[in-house]
Amino acid sequence: MSLYTMKEILADARKRNYGAGFFNAVNIEMIRAYIRAAEDCRSPIIIGTAEALLKYGDFDWIGPVLLQAARLAKVPVAVHLDHTYRFDTIMRALRAGFGSVMYDGSVLSYEENVRRSAEIAGIAHPMGVGLECELGKVGGLDEGEGVRGENIYTDPGQALDFVEKTGADFLAVSIGTVHGVYRETPKLDLNRLAGIRAKVNKPLVLHGGSGLSDDDFKNCIKGGICKVNIYTDIITAAANAVRKERDLAYVDINEKAEAAMYEAAVDKLKIFGSDNTY
Ligand code: 13P
Repeated sequence: MSLYTMKEILADARKRNYGAGFFNAVNIEMIRAYIRAAEDCRSPIIIGTAEALLKYGDFDWIGPVLLQAARLAKVPVAVHLDHTYRFDTIMRALRAGFGSVMYDGSVLSYEENVRRSAEIAGIAHPMGVGLECELGKVGGLDEGEGVRGENIYTDPGQALDFVEKTGADFLAVSIGTVHGVYRETPKLDLNRLAGIRAKVNKPLVLHGGSGLSDDDFKNCIKGGICKVNIYTDIITAAANAVRKERDLAYVDINEKAEAAMYEAAVDKLKIFGSDNTY
């Protein structure tokens, strides 16, 4: 299979009513776990990294490894740059050959988010690269340009204005999810999602997928979410698996972690309904 773009995968997800999973990686074990999960599930998958994760896996090597893993996979795999605040990080992904990037201007004023997102669309689009932007604010991130922890919900009317003015190809929405571990059971605003869906004819993205219930995922995908971002559940599965295995050799600990991440990814792909689509 050749390298796919997120645009291609999300177009198919929309047409066939499944959710595509996006999984962040910082090392080869994570990448291998995701690809093997997708191949065994006969599912497309989107893999990538994010600005805050580059300290664990520098872009200059994780970027090429992600792309090579995608090229070798037996199912459609797209490589995407997640939450990025810096122009030069986006330029690195464009030069490396990523099919899509996320510019996250959600902590800025609305006008500044529009201005910078549109500027990046103007560079990405002529290179054939899709752009994900965020409107509202999915809280929980502690990295980036003065990112605050609170949640600000996406306004449906403003969402339409935002995609028209910026040319964003994919819109990350804030409907009650938070990045990381939930302190209390999340309550998703599905009416708000329906309102955004009615106005915005672009693939919608759900961030902060870890910790949601199967029903949450299914309702969101039914309500118009095409892509679900997962990270915390994967690293938690790996940490739980190795915590009990202190006496093992390093390479065997890696293997245990990879197996746990594989299982966690399989679980998500099945819930998202993308299994058996390829
Ligand atoms: P979680 O870590 O909460 O799964 O969020 C992942 C995410 O949204 C990455 O963009």
